[in-house]
Amino acid sequence: MKILVTGGTGYIGSHTVVELIEAGYEVEILDNLYNSQKSVLDTIEELTGVKPKFHEVDLRDAEALAGVFQDSNFDAVIHFAGLKAVGESVEKPLEYYENNVGSTINLLECMQEFGVHKIVFSSSATVYGEQDTPQYVETMTTGVTISSPYGWTKYFIERMLMDVAKSDPDFEVTILRYFNPVGAHPSGLLGENPNGKPNNLMPFVMKVATGEIPELSIFGNDYPTPDGTCLRDYIHVVDLAKGHLAALNHLQKGTQVYNLGSGKATSVLEIVKAFSEVSGRLLPHKIVARRAGDLPEFFADPSKAERDLDWKTELGIADAMRDTINYLQKSRGMEI
Ligand code: NAD
Ligand code: UD1
Repeated sequence: MKILVTGGTGYIGSHTVVELIEAGYEVEILDNLYNSQKSVLDTIEELTGVKPKFHEVDLRDAEALAGVFQDSNFDAVIHFAGLKAVGESVEKPLEYYENNVGSTINLLECMQEFGVHKIVFSSSATVYGEQDTPQYVETMTTGVTISSPYGWTKYFIERMLMDVAKSDPDFEVTILRYFNPVGAHPSGLLGENPNGKPNNLMPFVMKVATGEIPELSIFGNDYPTPDGTCLRDYIHVVDLAKGHLAALNHLQKGTQVYNLGSGKATSVLEIVKAFSEVSGRLLPHKIVARRAGDLPEFFADPSKAERDLDWKTELGIADAMRDTINYLQKSRGMEI
């Protein structure tokens, strides 16, 4: 089976490409390298013995995209490519709508034109917004309290995919709603390496560990949670990558939606503690004001994915911290 992976040099995409190649899939990567580096292709080769064909193409360029489909006979697409900085999306909403939604329209048009009908899409727990209970189930209503243009792009893309699958009975769509991806490949050769300023917790933890910033700012310790800091469902990126293989194996006509999370909630202070324990050194941190828009707690009900996809997380927080530290030491030349 030949898979086109958009965003395949990015954080989650690259880990998924490794799992796909190891499972015997033929993979081609499309990425515009806006938030990733071409050297990831060499790393994938080092890990798997296979260097996937690479298309340095922007998905907004419909003509170039058609060229990619013209030459290849894809069986399915895994669509990771997109912008993901929540704060930036509030400042530049049109960029986010154009890049995320516009790109996906181009992609779906190409898929229709070239008769490719299988797609797995990277969505986010953010589409649930705020719910009455913190454990999110796929049957909950989405799109009511989404807090950022980034979140809305995920919601609109989900809707588009559902509508396309309704209009064209050949389509097989799986939407994966990720919770909080963390960790790195156990080899220490692949990990999260965004261009520019990070947004999420772990990239900041990594910068503190390497001395690039002096201490981690914890956004609030007065939430109604056991230690006062927010609770999230952190999922190891290798477990997440394997979730995509499970999704590919279970594609079926119409649209399926799955949460990919561990079902466990971990606080910011617990992350700091776990990282400190694995590194053997207390991670410097301070409590600062809450960040606007943060919810005290949310985590996945992952039972649907376990039941239908035969997938569940196998790695925990300590594994994610160990692999992150290994990655910093091996690939970024850091002393920790
Ligand atoms: P990432 O930024 O590492 O990877 C995304 C890749 O897409 C990058 O390599 C970037 O260069 C590429 N890209 C962006 N716009 C493009 C365009 N127009 N044309 C071609 N390539 C383009 O991000 P990631 O963490 O690997 O996330 C992958 C997907 O998962 C994204 O869609 C993201 O929204 C979604 N997601 C991520 C998280 C998370 O916390 N990392 C959580 C939920 C959902
Ligand atoms: C954020 C996004 C969400 C997106 C998700 C995964 C917001 C409001 N939400 O969620 O839409 O789907 O990332 O990409 O941005 N924290 C600190 N200090 C830091 C960074 C984070 O204390 O320097 C805390 C946050 O307050 C939060 C937790 O760490 O409690 C996790 O933060 P983050 O990694 O940004 O993820 P989410 O807030 O879950």
